Amino acid sequence: MAAQEQTDYKRGILDQDVERVLIDEASLNRRLAELGAAITDFYADKDLLLVSVLKGSVLFLADLIRHIPIPHEIDFMATSSYGAEVQSRGIVRILKDLNKPIAGRHVLIVEDIIDSGHTLAYLTGMLAARNPASLQVVTLLDKPDRREVDIAVAWTGFSIPNEFVIGYGLDYNERYRNLPYIGVLKPAVYTQSDAGDPTE
Ligand code: IMP
Ligand code: MG
Repeated sequence: MAAQEQTDYKRGILDQDVERVLIDEASLNRRLAELGAAITDFYADKDLLLVSVLKGSVLFLADLIRHIPIPHEIDFMATSSYGAEVQSRGIVRILKDLNKPIAGRHVLIVEDIIDSGHTLAYLTGMLAARNPASLQVVTLLDKPDRREVDIAVAWTGFSIPNEFVIGYGLDYNERYRNLPYIGVLKPAVYTQSDAGDPTE
């Protein structure tokens, strides 16, 4: 097989597990331009720091900042939940903290998706305690039906139904992050897998 043919063949491998495309590339690009414009207006004369929560939001962050043409910095945090019982109370473990203090800075948390809201409630509580000048949240996706704790979200890309989605940074079992669109995963993929139902 020639190299190009091999690439074309492999390109479809992940797409086969997608039940349907929920948000295509063009819609993502259009919405990111709108979000970027709103964020740029809001922080026009402020010392802006974007905080991205690894790993799901890296594609969103990378594309979003190309629509924020004012000086700003980016930083990263990594979290993991402590286990089923504790997770329900919203305690998350910090695997990687920010590189620098945020006191007096205007911090914008960049999230991929808000589901129950527990992860974000914990993060915003923790970062607010460090006395930033302001603290806001932008999320690409929101599943409002799933919310268990109240979260103030300044900007939302898309509100979506309660279905497990993958692509554009979002994973199932660490896969599918590289799909250029947001898709609904075929339930057959997780009923056959040891990793189990991601929606539970
Ligand atoms: P929350 O604490 O319940 O709001 O969980 C949010 C986190 O769950 C996100 O940052 C994702 O890592 C993960 N998550 C929730 N829903 C989905 C989904 O539909 N696809 C992929 N990951 C998801
Ligand atoms: Mg996440």
